[in-house]
Amino acid sequence: MTRKSTAISAPNIALLKYWGKKDDLLKIALNDSISITLDENVLRSKTTIEILDSFGADEIGLNGKKVNDEKINEWLMLVRKRLLKKYPVLKNKIKIESENNFPTSTGIASSASGFCALATALCACLGIEKREEMSRIARLGSGSASRSVYGGFVQWKAGTNTENSFAVQIKPKEHWDDIYDVIAVVDEGIKKVSSKDGMEKTVRSSRLMHCRLAEIKKRRVRMLRAIGKRDFDSLAIEMMRDSNQMHATMLDSWPPIFYMNDVSREIVYSVHETNLNGIVAGYTFDAGPNAHVICQKKNLEKVKGMLLGIKGVSRLIVSGVGNGSKVVK
Ligand code: PMV
Repeated sequence: MTRKSTAISAPNIALLKYWGKKDDLLKIALNDSISITLDENVLRSKTTIEILDSFGADEIGLNGKKVNDEKINEWLMLVRKRLLKKYPVLKNKIKIESENNFPTSTGIASSASGFCALATALCACLGIEKREEMSRIARLGSGSASRSVYGGFVQWKAGTNTENSFAVQIKPKEHWDDIYDVIAVVDEGIKKVSSKDGMEKTVRSSRLMHCRLAEIKKRRVRMLRAIGKRDFDSLAIEMMRDSNQMHATMLDSWPPIFYMNDVSREIVYSVHETNLNGIVAGYTFDAGPNAHVICQKKNLEKVKGMLLGIKGVSRLIVSGVGNGSKVVK
């Protein structure tokens, strides 16, 4: 009997970022991170996984093309190592078909939604229902994927080993659902330095890294408080400062790494200008030049207008808060 499941997952945007691992293979982060899961109706990966009755080489299809994907091969190896004893069917051939409805590898977190959808579909095939375990399995593909299994506001507890490194939900979407992420697309090309290589380099060579790790411990507490109280001003300030600090450690790597470009910096200036008489929005940048500008619904049109007025912003993607990954078939 073939086991087959399809799942969808949205990316998430980290407000407190993870950049650096204690264990590169198992993806155990150096620090806790906090994110908002985006709306699966706007941005999503859809993945089907099939455990066949036969043996043989696994097959991977990405956006309709057959590929030999190093990251997915590594994930399959780690998943088998973790689960084979309990689920011997995993020694069979596995077929994966995954598609994104947005550009891949451009800093719009395709690996987060992709691996989360994969983990959710695999768990459905095996009958694993615990979200905690789904989060660990997603994490084995890409650290940030561990957070997309839940909707709303999420914290990935970095932990110290593969068992205690997983994400938990801080608050569901209903707690604060007038929050929007306006993604200003600046560049849709594949990023030059993968986040894996970038963070390894930063951990190895940045002398500012220890300052950031110390600051994150305090910032995490302030951010959780801001989310709990729905205090947008504090959340926006903490988020912008954390993004700036992460990009400062990238610049401090040797040789330096730049993900933000001139248009990204123009967006930073514009957000601060818009915020002069009170906080309207906060920005955050992942490993790419595209901006995530977070605001409340009442300021959505103002923020969209501001971003569309910046030369170099090619289009906007607007997403509310999402529900987390789910099985669709
Ligand atoms: O999960 P990865 O390995 O793709 O790394 C993601 C890193 C950032 O997006 C820059 C930050 C984060 O916490 O999502």
